Amino acid sequence: MRSLRTGLSLAALLTGAALVFTAPAAHAADPPLRDLAAARGKVVGTAVTGSKLTGTYGAIAGAQFGSLTPDNAMKWGSVEPTRGGFDWAEADQIVAFAQAHGQQVRGHTLVWHSQNPSWLTNGSWTPAQLSGLLQNHISTEVGRYKGEIAAWDVVNEPFNEDGTYRTGLWYDGLGSGYIASALTWAHAADPNAKLYINDYNVEGVDAKSTALYNLVKSLKQQGVPIDGVGLQAHLILGQVPSTLQQNIQRFADLGVDVAITELDVRMALPADSGELAQQAADFKSVVAACVAVARCAGVTVWGFADSDSWVPDTFPGYGAATPYDENYAPKPAYRGLAEALGGSTTTPPPPTGACTAAYSVSGQWDSGFTGQVKISCSGASLASWKVSWTYGAGQRVTQAWNATCTQSGAAVSCANASYNGAVPDGGSVTFGFNASWNGSNPVPTVTLG
Ligand code: XIL
Repeated sequence: MRSLRTGLSLAALLTGAALVFTAPAAHAADPPLRDLAAARGKVVGTAVTGSKLTGTYGAIAGAQFGSLTPDNAMKWGSVEPTRGGFDWAEADQIVAFAQAHGQQVRGHTLVWHSQNPSWLTNGSWTPAQLSGLLQNHISTEVGRYKGEIAAWDVVNEPFNEDGTYRTGLWYDGLGSGYIASALTWAHAADPNAKLYINDYNVEGVDAKSTALYNLVKSLKQQGVPIDGVGLQAHLILGQVPSTLQQNIQRFADLGVDVAITELDVRMALPADSGELAQQAADFKSVVAACVAVARCAGVTVWGFADSDSWVPDTFPGYGAATPYDENYAPKPAYRGLAEALGGSTTTPPPPTGACTAAYSVSGQWDSGFTGQVKISCSGASLASWKVSWTYGAGQRVTQAWNATCTQSGAAVSCANASYNGAVPDGGSVTFGFNASWNGSNPVPTVTLG
């Protein structure tokens, strides 16, 4: 009797795999932003955080954007928190994700006054030492990603609002020559990467952007390798400079590319529908200005979702600055981006891919069973994963392999091991476990993410 019942329930279990979709399946819709942009010879990108490149966030980042900029992962303080102690994990992960999704990477950033490690900023350095540290940093980081980075924001935010040089670690120690040196070292480390100087409040024609213009002109005259200018474009609602296109054009006329590198449009919270409509118009006019100038390479948004924006932390009381809301639903601003790129619809296509988790039992005996969960991706990918389920009949996981599983009461949670977090598009990862059962062993519903 016992073996017969076991045989029957095993057969039932083997066919009873549970599937959970983390992203909707594809259906007919407008092309994603990256395709609309590509049709105009432009690249539309987003800043991303490596740990979030999974689930809906990963699906949107992979489907909609043709370029990724690590928001923090490539900054000096992230990659070398202690002197000689490097941590490339998040930067590597973002580069790998981009490559798996046919995306470019904008490297950000090599020389900046902010987010440097304290060992560097608290140290006391002679000019020669400082120069050596900077050269070594640039050679190491650019060299590591040689051939994998389309463009580097080599120098970030070198100017004050009045167009004078920003003082601090680099200028005080090395004078304005640190800019030419940094570009030259970066070029030596990756001759094919486009090298940019990037700044904020340089979108319109004014004292600050003119200082940047004069610098680029002089660098070009000296033969310093400078390929582009990044206009960050952290804008305030309704305040797109009227001279934006003219400004882009004057840099282009110097013989450099221009990119909008960190676009967001913040507003006082809470946002109302009129403000969201204004924001759509603002996104549209920024992208339109780029589309109008041949040497404008493209537009990167500084985070694509309001839940992932730096704005609320940095500008208290402000937010809602990106094209998607906190729940990854597209806002009118998404339509503004799409329309400027020639799109017509008010809604984006859903992410075309999905990752799924399937639970199955491969063997069962009197008191125990062996199970497995297979995580598969198609048109999407994962950088890490967590699977959870709730047992309905007192089952208990006793041992797991290729995952770390914990059980609390009926709730089981399994996360990837150190070596199998990545599930590539078109690939799968399987982990297994032994568990006990008694009475019945129903298949649980499995949640991925
Ligand atoms: C921001 C990041 O988005 C935040 O997560 C971080 O706390 C501070 O830096 N200009 C830049 C970016 O060049 O590197 C900044 O990114 C935003 C302003």
